Amino acid sequence: MSAARIPLAGVIGSPVAHSLSPKVHGYWLAEHNLPGHYIPMDVASDDLQTVFRTLPRLGFKGVNVTIPHKERALSLADRVSDRAAVIGAANTITFQADGSIHADNTDGVGFIENLRAGAPDWTAETGPAVVLGAGGAARAVLAALLDAGVPEIRLANRTRVRGDALRSEFGPKVTVTDWHRVGEALSGAALVVNTTSLGMDGSAPLSLSLDPLPKTAVVTDIVYTPLETQLLADARARGNVAVDGLGMLLHQAVPGFTRWFGGRPKVSPDLRAAVLAG
Ligand code: ATR
Repeated sequence: MSAARIPLAGVIGSPVAHSLSPKVHGYWLAEHNLPGHYIPMDVASDDLQTVFRTLPRLGFKGVNVTIPHKERALSLADRVSDRAAVIGAANTITFQADGSIHADNTDGVGFIENLRAGAPDWTAETGPAVVLGAGGAARAVLAALLDAGVPEIRLANRTRVRGDALRSEFGPKVTVTDWHRVGEALSGAALVVNTTSLGMDGSAPLSLSLDPLPKTAVVTDIVYTPLETQLLADARARGNVAVDGLGMLLHQAVPGFTRWFGGRPKVSPDLRAAVLAG
């Protein structure tokens, strides 16, 4: 094998054409003048294992995995980071020099970095966080918020049993609120996070009155199509700091890029503009 082999990485999903990750990594490769390519790959679930075994032989240093492969990717790994184990899914796979597969999950750290960048005055200790949703994204957000030191998480999900299951798993700092009573949970909260698909282009709207929410609270949405969801627009209109979800996608990409291509990429306004420019 040639020492000068060009490093490769990519994103595996199905479908994958909509993924913004190739733009993010392509931007950083050009910005840092590094050799490498980042490729979108549409892979069926049944082929994932074979693909994981084959890619390192082609010069791949690693891959991002997205829907619907995040849980399966975790199960195929030889080593799993603590945070990927807690979240129960992988989004960043690294093929080690010894041939083993390392699985990590950077969604939670991407969420927190985005929050800290967009709401520099927010601190975890300030007060309770309200989290809407109990899917895979909620797991990453819960893990990250608890790790950051949030004292209480009020979780509301349409299907209550999914919320209860997360409470059993993540512990007593998580309290579960009925979906139709989420308004009450906003009282005294320091942070609101939407992890549901509500408000996304093509999905139903999220109808939530923010009236009980303190004006000092930060509101964030992991939905980024549209960039300004109704939730964020409502929050901004009443004076709350609102943080959009695109930054989570940008920040979660940093650790993978560093591992596969080297360098320390930054999430800059220019990167955001380049990704949004399409
Ligand atoms: P992901 O892994 O991306 O978080 P998911 O596991 O499908 O995706 O979870 C989607 C979340 O959006 C869930 O919390 C889901 O609520 P349910 O657990 O009740 O399904 C929530 N969601 C989706 N459509 C919704 C709707 N119309 N009203 C309320 N919640 C909705």
